[in-house]
Amino acid sequence: MVAAVRVHKVGGPEVLTYEEVEVPAPGPGQVRVRNHACGINYIDTYFRMGMYPSPTGVPFVAGNEGAGEVVAVGPGVTDLKVGDRVGYTSALGSYTAERIMPADRLVKLPDSISYEQAAGMMLKGMTVEYLLNRTFKVQKGMNVLIHAAAGGIGLIACQWANYLGANVIGTVGSKDKAALAKANGAHHTILYREEDFPAKVKEITGGKLCEVVYDGVGKATFPASLDCIKPLGMFASFGNASGSIEAFNINLLQQKGSLFATRPTLNTYAAKREDLLSIAQNLFNVVASGKVKIPVNQKYPLKDAQKAHRDLEGRATTGSSILLP
Ligand SMILES: NC(=O)c1ccc[n+]([C@@H]2O[C@H](COP(=O)([O-])OP(=O)(O)OC[C@H]3O[C@@H](n4cnc5c(N)ncnc54)[C@H](OP(=O)(O)O)[C@@H]3O)[C@@H](O)[C@H]2O)c1
Repeated sequence: MVAAVRVHKVGGPEVLTYEEVEVPAPGPGQVRVRNHACGINYIDTYFRMGMYPSPTGVPFVAGNEGAGEVVAVGPGVTDLKVGDRVGYTSALGSYTAERIMPADRLVKLPDSISYEQAAGMMLKGMTVEYLLNRTFKVQKGMNVLIHAAAGGIGLIACQWANYLGANVIGTVGSKDKAALAKANGAHHTILYREEDFPAKVKEITGGKLCEVVYDGVGKATFPASLDCIKPLGMFASFGNASGSIEAFNINLLQQKGSLFATRPTLNTYAAKREDLLSIAQNLFNVVASGKVKIPVNQKYPLKDAQKAHRDLEGRATTGSSILLP
C-alpha cells in the first residue's frame, strides 16, 4: 500500500482524500514509477469537480503530472529499466507515492533536470512549447498577449515568448504578479481586473494589436480577448480558469477581423510518441540552456493536496506548484 490522494465523489477541494491505495505489479508494456514530485495543474481541478469526467470513473487518484524513478518493469518493456529517471504528463493518477504508467508515455529525464523541476514543467512547459511553436508560431517582433502571466503556464510562456523575440504583454491579477511577470520576460503588464485590457493592448501596440492571444482564463476574458487581436490573427483559447466560454456565433470572428480561433490541448499535440518526445526535448533544451527557468514557487506535502487546490483556485499561487509524496 502507498499514500495517495483520491476522489470518491466529485466536488470542491474537500473531496481530495489522503489515503492508502494498492498499486499492482506492472502488466505488459507498463512500468511502476515511484514519484519524487507530483505537478499540480488547473486541469486537476476540472477532474476533481467533474467538469472533465475521469475516464475510469470514481474513485480515481487525482493529478496529471509527475516525475520519479522506475521501480519495476512489466513484460515487453525494453527501453526502460529499474532506476531510470522519468517524467510524464496527461496521465490521470499522479497524486501518489507510486503508480503504474504505460511505458510509452514516459520521457527519460536528462541529468540536468531535477525531479522537482520536471514535476513543475512536464505538463505546463510542454503546453507552452506546442502553443508557441505549433498552434501559432511566435516569431521575432510579434505582439503576443498572455493571460494570467504570473501563473504556472504564464511564467513559462512569458520567458519563452521573450526568448523567441516577441513583444510580450501579460495580464495579471495584482501588482505583485505584474512585477513577477516582468521579471520573467513580460515587457508590459496589464492589471486586467482593474484596467480595460483591450484598450491597454491597443495603447501598448500603437494600435497594431496582437498576432496571437493565449487565453487560459476563459469565461472572464471572452469576448474581450478578440478585441486584442489584429485582422487574420489567432485566438488560442487553451483553458477555463474562470469557467468555460459559452457557445457563441462564429460570425463574431468575421466581425473582429477574420480571426482564427482554436481550442487546443496537449493530449492532441503529444498523442504520437515521436511528438511527445520532440516537444519534451525542445522543453529540456530551453531549460538546460537557461533561456527558460521553471519557477516552482509552492511545494506541499502530498497530504496537503486540499490546501494546494484552494490556493490555486484562490489565485494565491504563482508559477508552478508541486506535491511531495
Ligand atoms: N489546453 C492545454 O493543453 C492546457 C494545458 C495546461 C494548462 N491549461 C490551462 O492553462 C490555464 C493555466 O493553468 P495553470 O495550471 O498554469 O494555472 P495558473 O495559471 O497557475 O492558475 C490560474 C490563474 O488564472 C487566473 N485566473 C483568472 N480568473 C480566475 C478565476 N476566476 N479563478 C481562478 N483563477 C483565475 C489567476 O491569475 P491572476 O490572479 O493573475 O488572474 C490564476 O492564478 C488553465 O486554464 C489550464 O486549464 C491548458
